[in-house]
Amino acid sequence: MEKSKYIWFNGNFVNWEDAKVSVMSHTLHYGTGVFEGIRARHCSDGTYIFRLFDHVERLYQSADAYNMKIPYTKEEITQAIKDSVHQNNLSSAYIRPLVFFGEGEMGLLPKNVPVWVSISAWNWGAYLGDDAGNSGVKVCISKWKRISPQSFKPYSKGVGGYMNSTLAKVEAVKNGYDDAIMLGDGEVVAEGSGQNVFSIKKGVITTPPIETGALGGITRKTVLELCKELNIETKEQNLTVDDLKTSDELFFTGTATEVVGVVSIDGDNIGSGLPGEITKTIRSKYLDVVNGRDKMYSHYLENVK
Ligand SMILES: Cc1ncc(COP(=O)(O)O)c(C=O)c1O
Repeated sequence: MEKSKYIWFNGNFVNWEDAKVSVMSHTLHYGTGVFEGIRARHCSDGTYIFRLFDHVERLYQSADAYNMKIPYTKEEITQAIKDSVHQNNLSSAYIRPLVFFGEGEMGLLPKNVPVWVSISAWNWGAYLGDDAGNSGVKVCISKWKRISPQSFKPYSKGVGGYMNSTLAKVEAVKNGYDDAIMLGDGEVVAEGSGQNVFSIKKGVITTPPIETGALGGITRKTVLELCKELNIETKEQNLTVDDLKTSDELFFTGTATEVVGVVSIDGDNIGSGLPGEITKTIRSKYLDVVNGRDKMYSHYLENVK
């Protein structure tokens, strides 16, 4: 990890090394926290954060879902996120706001436990590797199912739920794959370990609905909007593993991942075994939008100053 100088911690910037918590923090014991993953990019006239408003909204919705009251206003957190990039002199950054229970009383009921907030920003390249954009990624169908809406709130980014994503990712990498696709309850596809998934067949794009346990990804939402402009038909509809394996093209979306082709599942090629033409078109459009080259979407970009 390329460390930055400062981390915003409970209202102030402290040196990266000094942003520390007690081992008795509630979240360390019970996984009770929520977080966001946001990107800032170097555009032609400065550094801009993509869809900051939506990320802050989702952070508060996640906190609410897990009964946490963030002790700052949305405006304060929005400013702190921008400042975390600016103060660290980062021209591009991955930004990780984390809301967690600190040290207070022990026990499952978070009583008399403070809600702490940290915002870290650092330089982080392509999540699935520098080649992923051009060559695509190879995935397996995970033996681990995505957290169920019957036992978690998968539409929010809750810390503890990511033990499930980690199981899938570790298993996939151990078996020589780049990542994994997870099923939800029943036999329907939910999403990747940290990405939403899209299938393309006969020019129509399908992505699993949120009810499968998939996260309501901000990149997913963006891609659905871009498809409308590109006149590509989209559907939010259940998909089976067979639907995925017989797709003409497949791709992943996510803030860290961006838009990346999935070129094989369990060793079987999807289409030609390379990212397909529609995937490439959407990826290129997405990169234009997030890098400020498409003025139609400039309202999604917020300057860090
Ligand atoms: C489990 C999971 N699904 C999907 C996504 C993609 O969401 P977004 O596009 O908002 O980054 C992420 C990343 O945050 C994730 O962790």
